[in-house]
Amino acid sequence: MAKLKIAVLFGGASSEHDVSLVSAYSVLTNIPKDKYDVMCIGITKKGHWMYYPGEYEDIKTGEWENDPDCCTAIISPDSMHKGILLLEDDDKYYIRKVDAVFPVLHGVNGEDGTVQALCTLAGLPCVGCDMTSSAACMDKAITHTILDAAGIKTAPYCYVNRTVLSDIDGACEDIEAKLGGYPMFVKPACAGSSVGVSRAADREGLKNGLKIAFAHCEKVVIETEIIGKEVECAVLGNGSALIASIPGQITPAEEFYDYDAKYKLGTSVLDIPAKISEQQMDKLRELAKKAYTAMGCSGFSRVDFFVTDDDIILNEINTIPGFTPISMYPKLMDNMGIPYGELLDRLIELAIERNS
Ligand SMILES: Nc1ncnc2c1ncn2[C@@H]1O[C@H](COP(=O)(O)OP(=O)(O)O)[C@@H](O)[C@H]1O
Ligand SMILES: [Mg+2]
Repeated sequence: MAKLKIAVLFGGASSEHDVSLVSAYSVLTNIPKDKYDVMCIGITKKGHWMYYPGEYEDIKTGEWENDPDCCTAIISPDSMHKGILLLEDDDKYYIRKVDAVFPVLHGVNGEDGTVQALCTLAGLPCVGCDMTSSAACMDKAITHTILDAAGIKTAPYCYVNRTVLSDIDGACEDIEAKLGGYPMFVKPACAGSSVGVSRAADREGLKNGLKIAFAHCEKVVIETEIIGKEVECAVLGNGSALIASIPGQITPAEEFYDYDAKYKLGTSVLDIPAKISEQQMDKLRELAKKAYTAMGCSGFSRVDFFVTDDDIILNEINTIPGFTPISMYPKLMDNMGIPYGELLDRLIELAIERNS
């Protein structure tokens, strides 16, 4: 059988650009080469799209951008093209047909429905969730709202937009009244990897937290602090044919699971299976599937929870979870008997299945 041509997208105009480079390196080095012809497309922090024909090693370091063989490469929204437009210096362009797109992009401009929408216009299968579910999961305020409607418990929350900055003390009073007191977690509605997330122990912390979070997003979500274990479940599949993994647990090295705790190798402890009771485990896996379905997910997602002695509270859903060697999603699937290479294979098959 002819090999399928896959465009792997990495980098991106996102605060999680660097994480994507490491995730993409792992994807590229593990994708089964006997089945797939891979075309690498890097997106710079400024949002320039380039075909990159060089060594995978230089992706990890960010050196790839300086390769003289790079040329502008964009997904054509014209569904007759079914591929990538390569623009050369002399203004000539070529169309390189592809069978599917694999966005290894985290955060805004990649995980948030934007690239997924482009692939829909292009008529190209895209690995992972579609435009709507990607956008809904990326926005923590929308996630809360949909999960509430589906009867899935999340932390008590409220959200505000930038207009509150004109009367920040008034806004803090409202938030305190709604949530009933400190500590709180203050988060940009649309970021990831803990970027812009802070814990507020008092009014001063809340004010600072709002300012930090608004640097990343127009909307900010504020939640009551939940004291519990951080437990994550990997979900794979389309429609009702879903695998919800045995969950894993993260014990952050820092005060909470912030950016440093996530990416500085060896600082946080990861346990598979999570140290929770069998009943909690069963309930959590069912909740993960229920939330995945309620949010309209397909392909894959990682569903994150807080588990307390007597409750399971959903924190968030990541539609393109980290794929670095130390990331939870690939490890959870490996524990389910799906090794990394096979996982990539299944994700591409699921994308093609959804598109057909
Ligand atoms: N309501 C909360 N209670 C306790 N800890 C929280 C709460 N919300 C977030 N955290 C901590 O902050 C981390 C990052 O928040 P999260 O909502 O997962 O954002 P991100 O999308 O950036 O991963 C979590 O892993 C957890 O350690
Ligand atoms: Mg998180």
